[in-house]
Amino acid sequence: LLNGPLKGKHILVTSGPTHEPIDPVRYIANRSSGAQGSAIANALIALGARVTFITGPARAEMPMGCVIERVQTAGEMLTAVEKTLPVDGAVFAAAVADWRVTSASDSKIKKTKSGDLPTLSFAENPDILATVSQMKKLRPKLIVGFAAETDDVIDNATAKRARKGCDWIVANDVSPETGIMGGAENDVTLITPDAAHDWPRMSKDAVAQKLAAEIAKALK
Ligand code: C5P
Repeated sequence: LLNGPLKGKHILVTSGPTHEPIDPVRYIANRSSGAQGSAIANALIALGARVTFITGPARAEMPMGCVIERVQTAGEMLTAVEKTLPVDGAVFAAAVADWRVTSASDSKIKKTKSGDLPTLSFAENPDILATVSQMKKLRPKLIVGFAAETDDVIDNATAKRARKGCDWIVANDVSPETGIMGGAENDVTLITPDAAHDWPRMSKDAVAQKLAAEIAKALK
């Protein structure tokens, strides 16, 4: 939409998992497909936004009609996000790895004859959502985070919103029996500073369109 409600607005979207290397051939990852992130980018573009899409190695189709930045690790994702600022809005839909292997090996880790097992030590990754939310000068006007939870979804997501300092949290239950992670549907609650809006279960495309419409209202 050339004249959509988000015309002239630049919005950053992060999406997909991150891959944290163990050695040149192995990595630590998670089950995020990137489907919800791609759908959000497409929905924002459809409302006229200029989108920069920063994605880890995702299975989902890439959105069309935006700038795409491909990264592997959380560290690279933070750098790409910082390079993209300032923006009007930011949606952090990526499932960023919380930890990276402290010192990834430069060569493939081998089995030993003695049967000694390798041990991995971890370092905490930067929290991209919290970092951007706490920026003084470059903080986007609207920041949307996600909270994938398996228990006490609303309470945990409400606490997360406050702790990270973002404006909204899209909370969802990713318990295996919901089939949401990697599936085509989502069942979300939009947590804003003063309410928790429970949306009915719908396709990830429909969630994206509803969220994009709310973002357009907020950035008007
Ligand atoms: O703390 P948790 O991982 O549950 O927070 C989820 C939200 O924070 C998502 O919006 C995710 O994209 C973002 N996040 C991030 N950087 C991290 C971890 C999470 O941007 N290192």
